[in-house]
Amino acid sequence: MYRVVFLLFWSALRCVICDNNYEDAKLNFTQLAVKYGQKCEEFDVTTKDGYILKLFHIVGNESNPIILAHGMTDSADTFIIRGELSLAITLAKKGCDVWALNVRGNKYSRRHETLNPDKDKEFWNYSFHEMGLTDLPAIIDFVLNNTGQSQLTIIGHSQGNQMSLVLTSLFTEYNSKIKAIIALGPVAFMHNVRFPLSALIPLWPSINIVLKASGQEEIFKNGTLPTYAARNVCTQKEIGYKLCGQRVLFPIVGPDPDELEPEFFPIMFEHFPTTTSRKNFDHCAQISLKKRFAQFDYGLDNLKVYGSLVPAEYPLSNITTRVALLVGLNDPLADVTDVKILRDKLPNSYYYEIKREQCNHADFVIGKNMNDYLYPIVFEILQNYRKINFNN
Ligand SMILES: *[C@@H]1O[C@H](CO)[C@@H](O)[C@H](O)[C@H]1NC(C)=O
Ligand SMILES: *[C@@H]1O[C@H](CO)[C@@H](O)[C@H](O)[C@H]1NC(C)=O
Ligand SMILES: *[C@@H]1O[C@H](CO)[C@@H](O)[C@H](O)[C@H]1NC(C)=O
Ligand SMILES: *[C@@H]1O[C@H](CO)[C@@H](O)[C@H](O)[C@H]1NC(C)=O
Ligand SMILES: *[C@@H]1O[C@H](CO)[C@@H](O)[C@H](O)[C@H]1NC(C)=O
Ligand SMILES: *[C@@H]1O[C@H](CO)[C@@H](O)[C@H](O)[C@H]1NC(C)=O
Repeated sequence: MYRVVFLLFWSALRCVICDNNYEDAKLNFTQLAVKYGQKCEEFDVTTKDGYILKLFHIVGNESNPIILAHGMTDSADTFIIRGELSLAITLAKKGCDVWALNVRGNKYSRRHETLNPDKDKEFWNYSFHEMGLTDLPAIIDFVLNNTGQSQLTIIGHSQGNQMSLVLTSLFTEYNSKIKAIIALGPVAFMHNVRFPLSALIPLWPSINIVLKASGQEEIFKNGTLPTYAARNVCTQKEIGYKLCGQRVLFPIVGPDPDELEPEFFPIMFEHFPTTTSRKNFDHCAQISLKKRFAQFDYGLDNLKVYGSLVPAEYPLSNITTRVALLVGLNDPLADVTDVKILRDKLPNSYYYEIKREQCNHADFVIGKNMNDYLYPIVFEILQNYRKINFNN
């Protein structure tokens, strides 16, 4: 404890005296897009339950819109903070029409027509279920309407894919609006998450009780200790790399130091993590602990909410659109075994293991050499999805 407090003070002090030559750390999505030579627009999309979502648009050839869907505690930034090398800029340079969404509650979408995120607990009453069932269709309809197209492609990372699976399994009419889902590090089943996560998740129910009792519905709220530490300690090139990289990040997302260098930490940890709900964490923990990719478990209230004692599993066999599963062999969060369970339940899936053996959960969005091991397969799917065998 003493050590942590000391480090916090020390790094805050250092921050005052250090010269910050990491310009990208302080730029938002739009500013980054412009800096890297693109035309970028911002839209507010309001969901039918009143959340106001920020949608970024890098203007390209509107005949082929692509939605980028970020993962948990993340934002659209994840697809652009690698700058010239990032997926958003790379797609844009190829002339693609790029739409980067922000789910309810993250730093860009912490707004609602009537609810106040700082005062109303109800604002945080959601998980990836609502993101999939309410946020994603609002974004899809907005993009299709804006571009005049009838179909689009979704590229998701991590929980960004859980959302798509929720939507296309339950609101099956959305399958025909999606050419293909390109799922990077796809998280759905979490039966086989690896150590140390496998040891941490069982602790969640106790943590959850404490958070709930103390009214903390917002995780990574601005100004709280974890967020303060991320912005002030993890952003320090050396100490941040040692403490946040080697001790925390690599154990969770898988070690791949070659792809995530200390110099990137000042940029990454100004943008990540961002806010989400306690309930979102709770839902994910349930999936892992109960070994079911199912709707939120309200315990005794299930009968009231669902009319049954156990929440229904997501009916994945309803998903008729193409789903390409891009898997990292060194990804403890979307373990190969779990992704294979998913593959076997999807009617139209294409399964691909990234050729770089060290590929971890983060490499799909911020790996230094994504253009080597990731982009070729992404572009192959984007261009030739009709020719690829989605039945393996
Ligand atoms: C990004 O920064 C620009 C320039 O400061 C600002 O005009 C814009 O509103 C910002 N966008 C968001 C979503 O914060
Ligand atoms: C946009 O893409 C379509 C289909 O690939 C192509 O036919 C059209 O010429 C492109 N438009 C521009 C302005 O490049
Ligand atoms: C949260 O939402 C669920 C269903 O969406 C509802 O059943 C439940 O009562 C809500 N909980 C609170 C505390 O508002
Ligand atoms: C579709 O776009 C038009 C104009 O761009 C707008 O007037 C209309 O409200 C939009 N409809 C939906 C459902 O977003
Ligand atoms: C977080 O709080 C700091 C200090 O009050 C502020 O400068 C920053 O803009 C806030 N960030 C977000 C994402 O709200
Ligand atoms: C989706 O799956 C469920 C359960 O397998 C099935 O009962 C339902 O009819 C399906 N819905 C559609 C629209 O296909």
